[in-house]
Amino acid sequence: MRVTMIGSGYVGLVSGTCLADFGHSVTCIDKDETRIADLQRGQLPIYEPGLDRLVSENVAAGRLGFSTDIASNVAQADVVFIAVGTPSRRGDGHADLSHVESAIREITPHLRKGAVVATKSTVPVGTGDRLEEIIREIRPEYPVFVVSNPEFLRQGAAIEDFSRPDRIVVGVADEAAKRIMADLYRPISINRAPVLFTSRRNAELIKYAGNAFLAMKITFINEMADLCESLGGDVQEVARGIGLDNRIGPKFLHAGPGYGGSCFPKDTLALMRTAQEFGSPMRLIETTIDINNTRKQALAQRVIQACGGTVAGKRIALLGLAFKPNTDDMREAPSIPLAEMLLAAGATVVATDPQAMRNAASLLPDLEFAPDPYRAVEDAEAVVLVTEWNEFRALNFAELAKRMRNPRFIDLRNVYGRAELSEYGFTYHGIGRAAPGERG
Ligand code: UDX
Repeated sequence: MRVTMIGSGYVGLVSGTCLADFGHSVTCIDKDETRIADLQRGQLPIYEPGLDRLVSENVAAGRLGFSTDIASNVAQADVVFIAVGTPSRRGDGHADLSHVESAIREITPHLRKGAVVATKSTVPVGTGDRLEEIIREIRPEYPVFVVSNPEFLRQGAAIEDFSRPDRIVVGVADEAAKRIMADLYRPISINRAPVLFTSRRNAELIKYAGNAFLAMKITFINEMADLCESLGGDVQEVARGIGLDNRIGPKFLHAGPGYGGSCFPKDTLALMRTAQEFGSPMRLIETTIDINNTRKQALAQRVIQACGGTVAGKRIALLGLAFKPNTDDMREAPSIPLAEMLLAAGATVVATDPQAMRNAASLLPDLEFAPDPYRAVEDAEAVVLVTEWNEFRALNFAELAKRMRNPRFIDLRNVYGRAELSEYGFTYHGIGRAAPGERG
């Protein structure tokens, strides 16, 4: 099948490349000429493990190309995906649909008869209907189908998630569109993943409901971690204990600094606004958003407390800046308020991250950078593990302790344990793990 992807950002690029890898003929389009020129030279605008190899293999096989030309590529396509950004609108938190709407207006005059237009971007409930209206305004009676096909890709594991998804959700209003989408996903769905065909509205709701539920699950365990700190419990044990109940499941029960990234913060906010607007406020989601924001704002206080009440004039090392490992993405990263507040409190903050230092430098001009953990901790009063990159999972603690002014380890991801670190003379502070016999 011939597929045209409008938008060559994270979602468009990963989805387009994976569809090409499954044998379809795919062109990824973008307005940004430099981005397309870079992609044509094999240079990717994002870091995603394995994507560069998959792009070059599929380009070499003639199944994947990049272009700025909408007209001719849309005219040939069986399926046109809309994968442009839907950022939070300034002021009200609603998803900004201006890129989606202008993409629809631009592609409509070129669509083939019987083509499918599928939204991959996360869009508010009812957007599919709205897009259909726009198409009908421009070309009344012309037979094209609007489909909602949300993505559930995790950054850092996006290729795996696309190729072996738990499920594929397709919201359709017509039998013909259903058949085209079933053909498109046949290579992935055979023996691998159920395809859930539902209404467009349901598909749009499923995307928001899924992300909101996961954000809530993380927030639940984070609050439980706070309780463990107050009561002298260990949240890791509690998570293991409840996660073994099949009804709860073990995933997304890892307590930490609060969720970040491009999806959970934006999508929970958009869902909250939609729910309020339609007179059905979701108090669980409102509270989740509030708890998570407060948590991220309170991280610096944990470090200041661990350093004896002040960090003025002290060096603090941060291991990890990206919102999660295997990405260079800094959007809504807990490291941002943490670094800002430590700097405001008079600390010198030195950070290291395998991929995100360039993006972080533009956001945090007063942050200092080091090429590795050992150089980051020189003379430091404390080291804070912020992002659980594999590079930080087997640190040489004897070496770290030797270089630090004061061996304090604040582990925001519970990668290590108090017992192993105290052997090297470290004072250890985890999340939701009070020292044995003490309260937090
Ligand atoms: C998420 C969804 O998982 C994906 O389905 C959706 O399409 C986009 O949003 P992503 O943002 O890439 O993907 O990352 P994810 O791995 O889900 O983590 C999100 C945030 O939650 C990160 O800040 C992560 O550190 C945090 N998290 C995750 C926890 O704090 N604890 C956990 O147990 C899991």
